[in-house]
Amino acid sequence: MNFTELADVLGLGGDALVAHSLRVSQLTFILARAGGLGRELAGRIARGAFFHDIGMLVIPEAIRLKPGRLDSLEFSVVKLHPEIGYRLIPPSSDPVTITSRKIALCHHERWDGSGYPYGLAGEEIPVEARWTALADHYDALRSERPYKSAYSHEKSVRILTQGDGRTLPSHFAPEVLKAFSRAHGSMESARSDNGTFVGLRTSETKPPSRPEPPREAKSGEGKHPGESSRSPGASCGFARVRLLEGEVGPEEEISQSLGRQAFTS
Ligand SMILES: [Fe+2]
Ligand SMILES: [Fe+2]
Repeated sequence: MNFTELADVLGLGGDALVAHSLRVSQLTFILARAGGLGRELAGRIARGAFFHDIGMLVIPEAIRLKPGRLDSLEFSVVKLHPEIGYRLIPPSSDPVTITSRKIALCHHERWDGSGYPYGLAGEEIPVEARWTALADHYDALRSERPYKSAYSHEKSVRILTQGDGRTLPSHFAPEVLKAFSRAHGSMESARSDNGTFVGLRTSETKPPSRPEPPREAKSGEGKHPGESSRSPGASCGFARVRLLEGEVGPEEEISQSLGRQAFTS
């Protein structure tokens, strides 16, 4: 299964899931570049981040779209989505596929070990998932969800950098938080562009080839920011999805579109 075919599978989750996935991909790229990662590595992580929530496809809508807080049983179901996502993405030796699987599996792990599904801590967490985790959380705070309104950029930054009791700075890798303090203005600007993924161009994706060995699960705790409403016409966004297939575009093009703040470190 190549990138486009997997993106088509993700599209089955509906417009809201596709839009969130695109935004998280874009925000992860900006954040990783602000943290000093090269274009190629940041681009690979960003493409992998696009599939971070693919496991949500099999979470029942009654839970995913529940207007209100989830009870403990419902939350236990949601917490299955990282491992489901990991298994939905076919094993491959393709670097983007390997990255996608790591991110799908570990994007709810927390630096202080309080995340799920494994309760990994610190550098046990794949670096790709560390960058995605903060971008994902930022987008969740900025988005309307069935159980909450969209928070302002300022409030979201305050929660991520100072904590609010549920979210704590200790959940995120120090270098990621540091990059966020530099990049959040650019992330907000990019998000205001309605999730359009600028700076990427189309190209062929290599087909998957060799399988990757599975990992064993351990216990862990955490929460998942649920998706907002699903609308019919899941094919929407596919044109933009395909923009993610290729190499990262010229840096000048990206920085013109997003502002230079994220690229000056
Ligand atoms: Fe998730
Ligand atoms: Fe997410």
